[in-house]
Amino acid sequence: MFYHKVIGVSTFFLFVEGNAASTSVSKVLESIPGVKVIYRTRELEEQQAKSRIWNETWLSSFFYKPCNHELFVKQSLNMEMAIVMARDSGMDWIIHLDTDELLHPGGAREYSLRQLLLDVPRSVDMVVFPNYESSVERDDVKEPFTEVSMFKKNYDHLPKDTYFGMYKESTRGNPNYFLTYGNGKSAARIQDHLRPNGAHRWHNYMKTPNEIKFEEAAVLHYTYAKFSDLTSRRDRCGCKPTKEDVKRCFMLEFDRSAFIIASTGTEEEMLNWYHEHVVWTDKTLNLKLLRKGILTRIYAPMVVIQGLRESGVFSSVIASAPSTLSKDKFLASIERSNSSRAAASKSLPSRKIGRSRESQATARKALEIAATSIHEAAVPPLSPPGMDGDLTIEA
Ligand SMILES: *[C@@H]1O[C@H](CO)[C@@H](O)[C@H](O)[C@H]1NC(C)=O
Ligand SMILES: *[C@@H]1O[C@H](CO)[C@@H](O)[C@H](O)[C@H]1NC(C)=O
Repeated sequence: MFYHKVIGVSTFFLFVEGNAASTSVSKVLESIPGVKVIYRTRELEEQQAKSRIWNETWLSSFFYKPCNHELFVKQSLNMEMAIVMARDSGMDWIIHLDTDELLHPGGAREYSLRQLLLDVPRSVDMVVFPNYESSVERDDVKEPFTEVSMFKKNYDHLPKDTYFGMYKESTRGNPNYFLTYGNGKSAARIQDHLRPNGAHRWHNYMKTPNEIKFEEAAVLHYTYAKFSDLTSRRDRCGCKPTKEDVKRCFMLEFDRSAFIIASTGTEEEMLNWYHEHVVWTDKTLNLKLLRKGILTRIYAPMVVIQGLRESGVFSSVIASAPSTLSKDKFLASIERSNSSRAAASKSLPSRKIGRSRESQATARKALEIAATSIHEAAVPPLSPPGMDGDLTIEA
């Protein structure tokens, strides 16, 4: 969240449950200016049970199915509520992000997300941030945001011949070019009749929105960046580890394989599997893909976050949160969190560091991490194009 404050986000609606909703963590989260914490209480669930979305068909293929599908519905219902809250707080744009994602306002003046969105023509309703995927070079990453600098670029930001020409080497035997989704996340202008269209897109009940794609800006997705992500994802889902059953639980092929190995393999088998499918240890291959532009280095987020840490921003938020919570206890409870990872974490306001040019800060607000026909189906997490031009969609 502090990283996103630096790039110009003013308001966050955090939908939390599990450990992120524990007293120790939530005290800290609630003490951060611009952050509104929303707990998955019985009241919230009752309110969401009355949502018009349940009466509509666009999301219905995800209803009453476990794990990823259930999460997808929850995210959509949360996005629907966040639209109302964003509107009430006078925000201009809304974005839905998970806790393992950071926006990268590439191409924007001064690395400002605010500037990037200010420059979007008035006629545009929605903007897609194609996602880049973390490509870890070690198996012992503990804090992806400050340790990972190599990313695989999105299909949308590559020449087609490069993408298809290097497809096999980029994919390394995995089911798809990316481990997980490849269809980005999108920002929507707050306006009448806005609705979510699944976790990756927005839509409008009354018109076909005018949507564009950023050519340089991206969402950085830190997926399976820690070895422990294998087991934490497994523990969040009560599926049977069979080829058949995992289809009910996961939309993407890689998540299914990861769940099976994490449920049936020994620690050693898991680590081997992780090396083979996730970790980029072949320096020659990495360099080749870096030269081609398929892999790319992005240091800005780690530098910003490291800078915030060194300035004491994180420790002071933890220290000054109400209650006598110790830093160790707080960090321990974040460490423990396995279900919702909404522990976006630690410390202070500070937007544009150094410059004061943007001090009419109140005028513009972005936020959260978040089809004419009312029936336009929700956009699921989609894999990038495959070699046969097929899109593997199994919702
Ligand atoms: C959903 O449909 C039911 C049955 O038609 C109706 O009673 C209910 O009011 C509708 N709910 C919403 C929120 O539109
Ligand atoms: C993770 O969450 C599950 C279900 O909420 C719980 O049973 C389990 O003990 C938790 N694991 C850890 C390591 O906290």
